[in-house]
Amino acid sequence: MLGPVILAASRSDRLRRIVSAAPVTKQVVTRFIAGEGVATTVPAVRRMAEHGLDVTLDVLGEDITDPTEALRARDAYLELIEALGPLGLGPRAEMSVKLSSFGQALPGGHDLALANVTPVVEAATAIGTTVTLDMEDHTTVDSTLAIGRTLREKFPQTGAVVQSYLFRTEDDCRALAEEGARVRLVKGAYKEPASVAYQDKAEVDKAYVRCLRILMDGSGYPMVGSHDPRLITIAQELARHAGRKLEEYEFQMLYGIRDTEQVRLAAEGHRMRVYTAYGTDWYGYFMRRLAERPANLAFFLRSMVTR
Ligand code: FDA
Repeated sequence: MLGPVILAASRSDRLRRIVSAAPVTKQVVTRFIAGEGVATTVPAVRRMAEHGLDVTLDVLGEDITDPTEALRARDAYLELIEALGPLGLGPRAEMSVKLSSFGQALPGGHDLALANVTPVVEAATAIGTTVTLDMEDHTTVDSTLAIGRTLREKFPQTGAVVQSYLFRTEDDCRALAEEGARVRLVKGAYKEPASVAYQDKAEVDKAYVRCLRILMDGSGYPMVGSHDPRLITIAQELARHAGRKLEEYEFQMLYGIRDTEQVRLAAEGHRMRVYTAYGTDWYGYFMRRLAERPANLAFFLRSMVTR
């Protein structure tokens, strides 16, 4: 019940100002965020790599309102890629980008986002890695998938994300699986209307399994983005059934969530990639993590009260 309220709050500028200014918030936020800048995040990447974990790095920021902010987002990724190069991790450290931070919602946003993200994909390719396009609310899906398709013409490793809560996603999975794309499947983290998305958690989970089966049976590279123990077991079974070897799919989880399970899966020989967000614009990302799990909200409120 609380989830939709928190998701609505995640889009409120007033609450953004209040929550961001509270000193204690920062301490709680660090559970989910690797650092505020490249200098603190790169050592975290190195540590995770030493524990057998791969990463996908997200420079926090979304819903920008000015084209100069889009250029700043682009430059922040270019700075990150420059810092990652010397680590020599290649595809073990990829990037995740939200096209809304590259200008997708501005006038002419589709072309603007494509123009801004292309140099990032080029730079990532130059250090032997790639970029996955995060998926945001349902109004952006057509544009984001189309930009992914355009990028894959030149950079075939560019990844797509699909959300099982959307009714359309089984069809999108079929198309992406046929194309042979790298696809991260997630349940979906935004507040969506009943006209486009399942509202019942059990329906979202069932749709996740149907989509996963399509991806595992297809010719692409499935990336299982979930912390859900049942879905992780089902993914392993579907992969086996489809005759996939361990290196022909991967698991992905968020930084700070089920860390022990992340290391366990990696130790079992699975490719395990940790979605690692960093930066100062953490409000929307943080609120979505709270909405996913009431226990996280309780943890946050408790630390506010016990200070
Ligand atoms: P669910 O929320 O049902 O949780 C299952 C179990 O996992 C819980 O019972 C608990 O044990 C554990 N768990 C889950 N969330 C937790 C939390 N916050 N804290 C502690 N434990 C938790 N969404 C989107 O719309 N667009 C995107 O591009 C992405 N990208 C993305 C990348 C990666 C790597 C991941 C893992 C997730 C995303 N998401 C996303 C978010 C996704 O849509 C979804 O909201 C979260 O993954 C939570 O859903 P679960 O599948 O983990 O299951």
